[in-house]
Amino acid sequence: MANANFDRTLLLEAVRVTEAAATAAWRLVGRGHEKNADQVAVDAMRTALNNLDINGVIVIGEGERDEAPMLYIGEKVGSGKGAKIDIALDPLEGTTLTAKAMPNALAVMAWAPHGTLLNAPDTYMDKIACGPGWPEGIIDLDKSAADNVRALAAHRGCETSEITVCVLDRPRHADIIDSLRSVDARIYLITDGDVAGVIHTTDPTTGIDMYIGQGGAPEGVLACAALKCVGGQFQGRLVFRNADEKARAARLGIKDFDRKYLLHEIVRGEAIFAATGVTKGAMLDGVRHEGGFVHTHSIVMASWSCTLREVRMKKKLVGC
Ligand code: FBP
Repeated sequence: MANANFDRTLLLEAVRVTEAAATAAWRLVGRGHEKNADQVAVDAMRTALNNLDINGVIVIGEGERDEAPMLYIGEKVGSGKGAKIDIALDPLEGTTLTAKAMPNALAVMAWAPHGTLLNAPDTYMDKIACGPGWPEGIIDLDKSAADNVRALAAHRGCETSEITVCVLDRPRHADIIDSLRSVDARIYLITDGDVAGVIHTTDPTTGIDMYIGQGGAPEGVLACAALKCVGGQFQGRLVFRNADEKARAARLGIKDFDRKYLLHEIVRGEAIFAATGVTKGAMLDGVRHEGGFVHTHSIVMASWSCTLREVRMKKKLVGC
């Protein structure tokens, strides 16, 4: 289907941006420095964005202007030509994974027509997600984890023990894990990286049926952009730990602090989603240097055509 908002050549441009962040972050893999790894990814992503003929504004970025020198919320990127695009990004999703050379670190970004993404504050979000193919409304954030597993098992006609749920391994998820254990669901624990955790539900090869748990709200919006492109369901509710977090949300225009958001309320229009692996993971290979070349592995998705492309880049290293 044609799309009025995006020129499809932008798909490749989006991948170039995540490739740039991932290859920069790769140099810090296993070096033990989360902040440095994040910083080089931020710098590289910003440079790549500013080389593009887009009229972009960051709506999900590194934080508010007074706390983030680059890629802050409201920062304009690109040459200013072309359609106005809202950008959600996480130049390094999995800073700890990168610092410790653990699997599944990614550079991720989503683009959407101006005014169509939830401007989520940098707070937590309660999330539940499943992939495409399930009846609409089968998962519900307000039901227990066990009840959600029962619903999926009933629809599939299988035992609850045959349902696999991805959960971030955090003490705050003890109740969710107890609930899942009570129905003998299989739990796929991840140490970090819930953008990939949500996307795993859309890929039958992972065996993951559902994602449940509390993670970053910005990561929730990014994951929704991916589901918007390849199908699936998502519900999220912002979690506020103090008055400052509520004030941040209010500054972004959020009025109902208890609202349960559905996927189409988080990503209200078309979307492009791109991700490049930094370290090798279930979804993507990591950056690799071999024989004087750097290799990357990315995915890029488009909502208007429901397409997911895998992109492999091989580039000669200058001076090698
Ligand atoms: P960072 O890359 O910012 O470290 O985020 C990784 C991540 O695991 C996200 O995927 C997830 O949403 C969030 O952190 C969970 O937060 P916390 O580590 O505080 O539980």
